Amino acid sequence: MQNDFLSGIAPAGVNAVDSVKRAEALRAELNRHAHAYYVLDTPTIPDAEYDRLFSELQQLEETHPELKTPDSPTNRVGGEPLPEFGQVQHAVPMLSLNNGFEDEDIINFDRRAREGLDAKNEIEYAIDLKFDGLAINLRYVDGLFTQAATRGDGFTGEDVTENIRTIRSIPLRLRVDNPPKVLDVRGEVLMFKRDFEKLNQRQRDAGGKEFANPRNAAAGSLRQLDSKITAQRSLRFFAYGIGLVEGMEIPGSHRALLDWYRQAGIPVCEENAVVLGAAGLLEFYQAIQKKREALDYEIDGVVYKVNDFAAQQSLGFVSRAPRFAIAHKFPAQEALTTVLDIEVQVGRTGAITPVARLAPVFVGGVTVTNATLHNEEEIQRKDIRIGDTVSVRRAGDVIPEVVASILEKRPAETQQFIMPTVCPICGSAIQKPEDEAIARCSGGAIKCSAQRKGALSHFASRKAMNIDGVGEQLIDQLVDKNVVTTAADLYKLGLRALVELDRMAEKSAQNVLNALEMSKLTSLPRFIYALGIRHVGESTAKDLATHFGDMTALLSATEEQLLTVPDVGPVVAKSVLAYFSDPLNVELVEQLLASGIHWPVIEVKEKGEQVLAGKTLVLTGTLPTMSRDQATALIEAAGGKVSGSVSKKTSHVVAGDDAGSKLVKAQELGISILTEAELLQLCSRS
Ligand code: IVH
Repeated sequence: MQNDFLSGIAPAGVNAVDSVKRAEALRAELNRHAHAYYVLDTPTIPDAEYDRLFSELQQLEETHPELKTPDSPTNRVGGEPLPEFGQVQHAVPMLSLNNGFEDEDIINFDRRAREGLDAKNEIEYAIDLKFDGLAINLRYVDGLFTQAATRGDGFTGEDVTENIRTIRSIPLRLRVDNPPKVLDVRGEVLMFKRDFEKLNQRQRDAGGKEFANPRNAAAGSLRQLDSKITAQRSLRFFAYGIGLVEGMEIPGSHRALLDWYRQAGIPVCEENAVVLGAAGLLEFYQAIQKKREALDYEIDGVVYKVNDFAAQQSLGFVSRAPRFAIAHKFPAQEALTTVLDIEVQVGRTGAITPVARLAPVFVGGVTVTNATLHNEEEIQRKDIRIGDTVSVRRAGDVIPEVVASILEKRPAETQQFIMPTVCPICGSAIQKPEDEAIARCSGGAIKCSAQRKGALSHFASRKAMNIDGVGEQLIDQLVDKNVVTTAADLYKLGLRALVELDRMAEKSAQNVLNALEMSKLTSLPRFIYALGIRHVGESTAKDLATHFGDMTALLSATEEQLLTVPDVGPVVAKSVLAYFSDPLNVELVEQLLASGIHWPVIEVKEKGEQVLAGKTLVLTGTLPTMSRDQATALIEAAGGKVSGSVSKKTSHVVAGDDAGSKLVKAQELGISILTEAELLQLCSRS
């Protein structure tokens, strides 16, 4: 039920009656969400939204202490234990961490720690990742695993011993000679992203409930009354803390503790560091943010801890969090906003994607106004309507998506999305094969300018022909003015045609022509990928290039021949055949090659026989004709690897103009130095 008091942020200067009502409303709403989150493992709003409501209540209670009630959610650290599980009193409470978001918060944290310790020098910090799972206490008695408990409210948790036993990476006996009498190991139970995807796929296939994210999946899997179910879910554990210890001298620092854990067979995450001062902390934060998407598991920030345990103890705790540690959180990846409209976009293969137009919202570090809804089925399954409040997710460089609609915020008047029956761009019929989720415009690139534009954008994109300056805006104009129809037309462009376009001075026009000229020297994998054959991504294009060696062989390949290429299955084979059986596509390839597109020919050899097999090359300086990407592709195609730094293991350094320290180092180490021409000669037959 929607409570009017929650529809806005509490205005400043509200009167006493309003404050009482607002606090009541916040308490009720927070309790409801907390129940959904902690007990049902089914969150109803994004974490950031919960945090916003929570801190509003905290502030309200701070300014009006009389408003605080014994049942206020602000009295709690975590969730209430489920009654079905036995309860465990934590020997040492499992507290929480203060959060920082801005660099300034971290600089202040470091300053307070230095003041607290009266430190003359920079403080040494241990950094762990902030895992997005659930905190667990593992008890070992005489080296044997005896009990596991969730954090619960920080003082009492749920007994999940039998379920934890099913996690294979958790040792049932410590691998140490003299185990302590009692040891409480603390850490996080989580689910790897790939295991989460697999689980949701299984749930979908079985018509069961899908989990919103890996953390909820981990929580839902661990809090099962039947441990056989937990055993079927791939859960993992990373240790990062310690509780009660008896009968052992604990190591002197956080880092030493983690090393001890590792030796004892307790899993510790490899991504950690020991650094000096705030500068060291912030440097790690920047670096890990870049790696975040590639990690096997989800993290929502990093945790900084004063490394030395004696120093930790002297800093101590303030209310429910330590002074010696802080969580540096990443910007929220999910936020709430409203759907203003739902429109469809037509992609290069004619795929029709419904897109939500949103009220601008700051999420994942940028302002988002559009988010994909994937396809019609997805809209129906998630029941997303125009007018709805929705949670939007933007993770890394991935296209923002609408995750869910918040039903309790649904206004009386909403509008359902109806899939158009004809393409909004070219008017051709939209078709949807029974067994596919995606609807497509049947017009093809000839009729549908959206598909033409998509195909051209793809052709010019960085990983394809890499034509600098030929982006969406230029392509829109070229297609709308009928200057360009196919990719081959791009290479027929002259200065006159370009300068006639909007916002195109002679200098930029010349740059475009130069970029087109530069792009003519490419590699076979790039060229195949650039054609935009359905189901032929970068890696399949590489496989096809390695297998067939040239375009002639690929053009005339039979289905059987295609099927002998590693990783090419019937779907890809059929798609390649269909593409080259269209005379227009064959003509396009011929025209492109006639315009001068070429690549160094590399002999097709078995791996190991390739010219550069097992060799590592380093590129330095500006090469006369090839871009760095092109040179890398060439080296890789000949079986070699490209590395960023010169060492004794480097086989050759390829040096261009303005080569700097890498060239000097290569000379010092007596490593062979090649020019671009020599590299081309080495790699090619001709
Ligand atoms: S240390 C006294 N380290 O964050 C400090 N916590 O807000 C105890 N968490 O409940 C926590 N990764 O679930 C610590 N590397 C890490 C962590 C971590 C995730 C969670 C943990 C805890 C919450 C504290």
